[in-house]
Amino acid sequence: MLPYLSFLSFLLVFFIATFASPIAKNAKIIGRDTDLQFSYDFIIVGGGTSGLTVADRLTEDPETSVLVVEYGYLYADATNIEVPGLLNATPYEFQITSTPQHGLDNSTFAVPAAAAVGGASAINGMFFDRGSAPDYDAWVALGNPGWGWDDLLPYFKKSENFTPANDALAKEFMITSDDKAHGFGGPVQSSYPVFQYDSIKNFIRAWHSLGIESPEDPSGGTATGVYYGSSSLDPKNESRSDSQTAHYNSVSSRPNYHFLTGSAVSKINFVRQNATGVEWINRETFGFGYVNADKEVILAAGAAHSPQVLQLSGVGPKSLLNRLEIPIVIDLPGVGQNFQDQPTLYPSYNFTSNIVPNADTLNSNATYADEQLQLYYSSHQGAYTICKSSGNVVAFNPLPQVTPNYTSIIALAASLSASSLYLPDIDPTIITGYEAQRNLILNLYNSTATAVVETGFTSHSEIPLTLSKPLSRGTISISNRDPLNPPLVDWGALTNPADVEVMVAAVKKQRELMATQAMQELGPIELSPGANITMDADIRAALRQQVQPTYAYLCSTCSMMKREFGGVVGPDLLVYGAEGLSVVDASIMPLIPSAHTSATVYAIAEKAADLIKARHGLL
Ligand SMILES: Cc1cc2nc3c(=O)[nH]c(=O)nc-3n(C[C@H](O)[C@H](O)[C@H](O)COP(=O)(O)OP(=O)(O)OC[C@H]3O[C@@H](n4cnc5c(N)ncnc54)[C@H](O)[C@@H]3O)c2cc1C
Ligand SMILES: *[C@@H]1O[C@H](CO)[C@@H](O)[C@H](O)[C@H]1NC(C)=O
Ligand SMILES: *[C@@H]1O[C@H](CO)[C@@H](O)[C@H](O)[C@H]1NC(C)=O
Ligand SMILES: *[C@@H]1O[C@H](CO)[C@@H](O)[C@H](O)[C@H]1NC(C)=O
Ligand SMILES: *[C@@H]1O[C@H](CO)[C@@H](O)[C@H](O)[C@H]1NC(C)=O
Ligand SMILES: *[C@@H]1O[C@H](CO)[C@@H](O)[C@H](O)[C@H]1NC(C)=O
Ligand SMILES: *[C@@H]1O[C@H](CO)[C@@H](O)[C@H](O)[C@H]1NC(C)=O
Ligand SMILES: *[C@@H]1O[C@H](CO)[C@@H](O)[C@H](O)[C@H]1NC(C)=O
Ligand SMILES: *[C@@H]1O[C@H](CO)[C@@H](O)[C@H](O)[C@H]1NC(C)=O
Repeated sequence: MLPYLSFLSFLLVFFIATFASPIAKNAKIIGRDTDLQFSYDFIIVGGGTSGLTVADRLTEDPETSVLVVEYGYLYADATNIEVPGLLNATPYEFQITSTPQHGLDNSTFAVPAAAAVGGASAINGMFFDRGSAPDYDAWVALGNPGWGWDDLLPYFKKSENFTPANDALAKEFMITSDDKAHGFGGPVQSSYPVFQYDSIKNFIRAWHSLGIESPEDPSGGTATGVYYGSSSLDPKNESRSDSQTAHYNSVSSRPNYHFLTGSAVSKINFVRQNATGVEWINRETFGFGYVNADKEVILAAGAAHSPQVLQLSGVGPKSLLNRLEIPIVIDLPGVGQNFQDQPTLYPSYNFTSNIVPNADTLNSNATYADEQLQLYYSSHQGAYTICKSSGNVVAFNPLPQVTPNYTSIIALAASLSASSLYLPDIDPTIITGYEAQRNLILNLYNSTATAVVETGFTSHSEIPLTLSKPLSRGTISISNRDPLNPPLVDWGALTNPADVEVMVAAVKKQRELMATQAMQELGPIELSPGANITMDADIRAALRQQVQPTYAYLCSTCSMMKREFGGVVGPDLLVYGAEGLSVVDASIMPLIPSAHTSATVYAIAEKAADLIKARHGLL
């Protein structure tokens, strides 16, 4: 090979020999070679939920070479990941604190962003659901043909290996599903924990008594009502199924698949607007590495970090790049804008006659906890099959089911001028895009086809109330040119007054729920916001004090929308104005679905892999 090397390649060999090799000794490179190649067909930035899915699909073809560069490390025998009830996410997260949240009395909050091979799928609550059909059809309306519910359903199915609840559990707890909605050959395991707490039945009865029904299967495009969602859980031994177990472990020996851990991608390299490779910094040695991509650089660093990498590389809002003296490669105002998540209030109760055991018993009774852990290890049964702090039962309510006053909330939202919600120097395309989104959202608020508020119930003393489809928007932006410096994360939670009114209505609805016979059997006494907080003004004040800006569903910071709408990628997932550069993670969702986001991320990644293969003639 040597005689054919050009001078440039020679320089590269020299460069890699000089700089990359020391890194190779310290970081894990998996594959036939012990060293990195000069170049790969594809470089994937981030080995998380989406990144490992795309890497698996692209390396199915032995002729296609792929390098994944991941900030975190492989976990092995990590009981705090694998055993659902022992989850401890903290060791596998970035340490980022948000900016003061103006809608939340200027409090700051920890940012849930995963830093591990497997990404957030390794540390999430394992709730494995999809949004309703109109959630995805709204993506089409924002300029994305091919991304509606009917288009995505085959990819939801492709990603999934579904196992219905066993007969005894299904009968006792009224868990229903419809095989037509599911996939049975995919890599991600989807099943129901073999254990549930009895007071779940009260919660379901309570909603039924208020006229809220249960769909046969929420995965079929109607994810409203009160229902069980499956978990990303392996029914063989009731352990977590994540993108490392589903998409990495069984394929990591492919010779065309290389993997670098403990490395923070710091920059995408460009020749003009053509993405030609990436640079990274090793987390331990601070050594610097560089490699070329022959076909495409694929961003999968998650919604907090994909916009960070783009901005560091000179792709982003001109004003930001100029201020930080970063040479502009592409002026793309939408990078880091349109940031969405699901703000959540955790009303808490003293259940004076709760059924024992319940989700709190693991904390309050060490004998019970020991017994259950033994049971998990000996026969994969019991309370530890349920993910810690999570569960399987939710109510997803359309706005007309939350409050009869929904039209006044819609009118309030419509009356606010979009530009008043942004700083004066905002690019006009961002406002245009927001207005288009708002029209779609308000149509959904005015229907029963998708949900606006979620209530989760685990039998625990807190019953989270989540705003599934907020109108407020936030931003992610770098504050300087240091790639190891975390980005500024500003959720902008509850900055739109209409979001506050939806939450006020949700608090009142939860009180209606707690007043039903079925919930009263558990003897709830409201501790927070507090039974004395009844006037709307007091509820609003309590919300600003107590709401968390996140349910850990960061998304939409590199939105797939028309460029005139402030979009960052088109329906082909290619970054506007660039060549050979795409985004495939949660940041591309233009509107957050009324659901937890992992199943949608897997579906996006499966579709992304097909799009990428197709454009490079690899299908
Ligand atoms: C604590 C928590 C609980 C959740 N609970 C649920 C739930 O119960 N149900 C559900 O459906 N969803 C849940 N989610 C959300 C869901 O898991 C995520 O939306 C989804 O997994 C995101 O996938 P992603 O590919 O976009 O990003 P990730 O899976 O986060 O992957 C991004 C990867 O990029 C890496 N990375 C970042 N920056 C760089 C860089 N500069 N260089 C190299 N690598 C980098 C990160 O280390 C990470 O591995 C939860 C999320 C969290 C964090
Ligand atoms: C939050 O901070 C802003 C300025 O940063 C200030 O104008 C506002 O009054 C503060 N809000 C509260 C509730 O303290
Ligand atoms: C469950 O099985 C998988 C392999 O199928 C294994 O990797 C994992 O360690 C097991 N987990 C537990 C908790 O038994
Ligand atoms: C962009 O770069 C790739 C290599 O990274 C190359 O194959 C391709 O031809 C380049 N495209 C243009 C238009 O220069
Ligand atoms: C819950 O109620 C019980 C019974 O009324 C009481 O003894 C206990 O102190 C209460 N706990 C809290 C945290 O309020
Ligand atoms: C704690 O759990 C054990 C085992 O399940 C049970 O026998 C005991 O009664 C429980 N103790 C209390 C105080 O509930
Ligand atoms: C609906 O709005 C009216 C007027 O603001 C108010 O008086 C009433 O209490 C509201 N009803 C509910 C259920 O929120
Ligand atoms: C809400 O829907 C009804 C029909 O169901 C329609 O008459 C009304 O105009 C809609 N309101 C808004 C604000 O879109
Ligand atoms: C509600 O009660 C709490 C605790 O007693 C008190 O701190 C708070 O000021 C009260 N709020 C209102 C609006 O009455």
